[in-house]
Amino acid sequence: HPVSVIVVAAGSGTRLGAGVPKAFAEVAGEPMLTRALRAITGMRGEVRTVVVVPTQLLQTAADFALRAGLDRDSVAVVEGGATRQASVAAGLSAVDPASDVVLVHDAARALTPAAVFDRVVAEVRASGAGVVPALPVIDTIKRVDAGGRVLGQVDRSQLAAAQTPQGFPLMPLIDAYSAVDGEHTDDASLFAAAGRPVRTVQGDALAFKITTPADLARAEGVVAGNGE
Ligand code: C5P
Repeated sequence: HPVSVIVVAAGSGTRLGAGVPKAFAEVAGEPMLTRALRAITGMRGEVRTVVVVPTQLLQTAADFALRAGLDRDSVAVVEGGATRQASVAAGLSAVDPASDVVLVHDAARALTPAAVFDRVVAEVRASGAGVVPALPVIDTIKRVDAGGRVLGQVDRSQLAAAQTPQGFPLMPLIDAYSAVDGEHTDDASLFAAAGRPVRTVQGDALAFKITTPADLARAEGVVAGNGE
């Protein structure tokens, strides 16, 4: 069975201040979306891609997919929604139903290596669970109230920072999306809310999300070879 990868790129990205939807902003001369799509060309096995973008950028996204090296026949481009969750739902409706595994990936995690995608797919197939690439939390985390008062510590050893691509068996994810109530900040929490198990695999520092101008500067440093 092929793997389907939904790449969500329909956010406005106002925190980046680039003047274009965030995924279309360039990192060292190449749009984030093109970089995210190129990673998919490095995956093992048969892969189909659904790119979710703002309506005025449907053709641009199709051009980016070709430039990234994806086969025209393996790519669908669809219009996103008002929230990330609505955009993923739009992508799911265009997924090849022959796929056994679907990955959902943020275009804003533009430098994620192909190996992370492969690791997530392998774990979904091995476990049947939802799978999240995650990293240990480095900072000490405080619970605070609205007034800024520290209420307590959170045990860091029990925390993990979730990244994308997140992977799922296709039909259970479609069922979870059709049953969903309310907004979830990632697909794994929506999947878990539907009563399904979720596991982690090792994430990657390069899978960080580009949100602010400082993140963009970090990404440009990575591309320029300055490392992490
Ligand atoms: O805004 P944030 O960085 O959390 O968005 C994460 C990803 O979800 C981005 O790649 C963004 O383009 C995508 N997104 C979307 N549709 C929305 C909002 C966000 O595809 N309505």
